[in-house]
Amino acid sequence: MSNNNTNPVETLDMNNGKAKAPFRGLGVRVFAPATVANVVCGFDVLGFAVNEPGDEVEMRLTETPGVVIKKITGDDGRLPLDAAKNTVSASVQHYLQHINRLDVGVEIELHKKMPIGSGLGSSSASTVAGLFAINKLMGDLLTPKELVPFAMKGEELACGYGHADNVAPAILGGFVLVRSYEPLDVISLPTPAGMYAAIVYPEVDVPTKDARQMIRSKVFLKDAVTQWGNVAGLVSGLFMNDFDLIGRSMKDVLVEPTRSILIPGFEEMRNIAMENGAIGFGISGSGPSVFALTKDEETAKKITKAQQQHLHKININSKAYVSSVNAEGPRVI
Ligand code: HSE
Repeated sequence: MSNNNTNPVETLDMNNGKAKAPFRGLGVRVFAPATVANVVCGFDVLGFAVNEPGDEVEMRLTETPGVVIKKITGDDGRLPLDAAKNTVSASVQHYLQHINRLDVGVEIELHKKMPIGSGLGSSSASTVAGLFAINKLMGDLLTPKELVPFAMKGEELACGYGHADNVAPAILGGFVLVRSYEPLDVISLPTPAGMYAAIVYPEVDVPTKDARQMIRSKVFLKDAVTQWGNVAGLVSGLFMNDFDLIGRSMKDVLVEPTRSILIPGFEEMRNIAMENGAIGFGISGSGPSVFALTKDEETAKKITKAQQQHLHKININSKAYVSSVNAEGPRVI
């Protein structure tokens, strides 16, 4: 399989699929990146990974069968330690079931290094870090693409629907298109050189589950035409390195009008981004984070600084991240 990190990891001697030697103590620590899902026009079908923030999972194999969460840090007690309810352990359990290794014992420590409910694929980063770790310890039995359905199980647990537009880019890196869910067809797209993401997280909580419930489930054909024109335009723009086309395509007539109401200072932040040279601007995932794409790092920094100043003026705390597009996905640290 393609292995996109260079750190050597001791793995189980699979010995025809069954580990004979004692494997207690084998361990690995993995980072998986945050992601910007939807990329404005591609609700549930487009996403890209960033270099920061992200989550870390430390995983050890033990001789006692079963998956347990030993510790979670950085979550202010918000995430479940119950292995059946936690997205990391639940998806690892699915993976072990799939490879027919329910005899394996797994201890997990999850280190949340990014805000929960921020629209930056927080549950996805944790789940993907866990799946990448277990797959590494099992000797890379599955390819990164084959891990996507297991990570989608985690999303289903976290927000009621197994959408892939966070987990697929978190696993594969770069921009990703989910061409189809049934059957699952995930396509990696190119990233134009020099592109940066300017992300601002206004610190108000918008759980994805709630943000999904507020969207209309029926759309007008006229709006659908506008939307799929823009999705095709954005994908073409990525292939053609055409920043203007990418920007023209970053329009969402279906979801943004409803969800943007939950985001303090949304229109002002858009104006700031566009006046300061952004290619395009919109909601990251289900919000409340917003993002702009830019042609360089300096522009991205200018935008986040001005947007944070605006949020400060309206008494909203915020965090900002400036990052190029993450090309590698998860990595052993
Ligand atoms: N496509 C998903 C949504 C992403 O917009 O609900 C959630 O991060």
